[in-house]
Amino acid sequence: MEINWDISSAEKMGYPHFMLKEIMEQPEVLKVSAKISAEEIKKLAECIKDYDRVYFVAMGTSLHAAMVAEYLFAKLGKLVIACDASEFLNKGVVDEKTLVIGITQSGETYDTLKALRFAKKNKAKTGVIVNVLGSTATREADITIMMGAEIEISVCATKTYTSQLMILYRLFVEYGKVLGRDMSIYEKEIEKIPDYVKQVLDKKDVIKGIANNLKANNYIFISKGINIASALEGALKFKEITYLHAEGMSGGMLKHGTISLIDENMDTIAIVPPRSSLVFNSILSNIEEVKARNGKVVAITPVEIDGVKNILVPNVIEEISPIVYAPAFQLLAYYKAVELGRDVDKPRGLAKSVTVE
Ligand code: G6P
Repeated sequence: MEINWDISSAEKMGYPHFMLKEIMEQPEVLKVSAKISAEEIKKLAECIKDYDRVYFVAMGTSLHAAMVAEYLFAKLGKLVIACDASEFLNKGVVDEKTLVIGITQSGETYDTLKALRFAKKNKAKTGVIVNVLGSTATREADITIMMGAEIEISVCATKTYTSQLMILYRLFVEYGKVLGRDMSIYEKEIEKIPDYVKQVLDKKDVIKGIANNLKANNYIFISKGINIASALEGALKFKEITYLHAEGMSGGMLKHGTISLIDENMDTIAIVPPRSSLVFNSILSNIEEVKARNGKVVAITPVEIDGVKNILVPNVIEEISPIVYAPAFQLLAYYKAVELGRDVDKPRGLAKSVTVE
């Protein structure tokens, strides 16, 4: 009898790539992240109240999660700063009244560890949101919050990004409670996240069809508000595995230079905020501006938009939309990369964890 399998394909559980497996397991992973590390999250929420300055330091995808946190905490009147960890030594203002929270899937990223060590040396309190138990970050930080996403093999971060967001939503809720606010609307919505994410994953064939129809060599990802992080993360996913040029920016910045590039070789992926968002109409006018220049548009959107390719996603409250929209742009990047024959799980020149400067 011939046995036709190897360990790697067994671990992929029938999926052609780890990336697709990891994208598809998000609803289950998020149920774990919605419960894990409750005490530590409370402790960190107290610190956010007690410390004058709060930084989130991170690199790559983890920095985009930090950018979502900036918007969340601003809702509760707390200024937190999402900082590219590699720049933290140049612009961080650190003393004993500062709290520095690292977000790092691996817990080994050189620049994030360096920023945390700099914080510690200058008497700041440190925390870390991390996926790998026993990693350097877990050994060095004052407070460790585990994400519970289990091992992620594909170089491209997918389930660990949404898991980081889940932890940040819970931190936001706990912080609100520390302030005495009624956070029940958020708690209810957070419970529904795995189901919302599943609804987006169920659209995978539609997303595949749209990905296979993309013909341009250049892409701009735009959004507004809390989903600027989604635009940046969408572009990062897309470029790192398709090797096509992609950049993310706010819809506001589009007119300040980039719009001059719009032509048949430059498509736009618009991440449309929920209907209730103050910036909903504003992104629609960005889309019109692109169309007026004959630019093609794909919209990840809660409402059908005329004259564009629509990837319909649930119309949720704006705060949780980044986690709900993420599977849509992850799948778009995945299917385009597969169509182009790229090495999806191990894109050229990239490492899962960058442990050197
Ligand atoms: C590398 C990986 C990215 C990741 C980044 C930060 O660039 O390819 O997927 O987002 O490092 O990694 P960390 O482990 O600190 O989250």
